[in-house]
Amino acid sequence: MYICLCRGITENAIKRLGEEGVLCPNALACELGLNEPDCCGRCLKNIERLTAIAQGQVRSVAG
Ligand code: FES
Repeated sequence: MYICLCRGITENAIKRLGEEGVLCPNALACELGLNEPDCCGRCLKNIERLTAIAQGQVRSVAG
């Protein structure tokens, strides 16, 4: 499932980053390129939720 349409980022990609140790909001935003000019900013507003997904605290955004 796509979480970010600007960057084509999937929930699984965020989980994989978490498994690789990218677990804090700043590192995630940097790895995902959410500070790039072609991003709408929606994901940065929801970075805490994305971080929870990376940390395995959220089973699925669909559920
Ligand atoms: S949907 Fe992720 S930055 Fe726009």
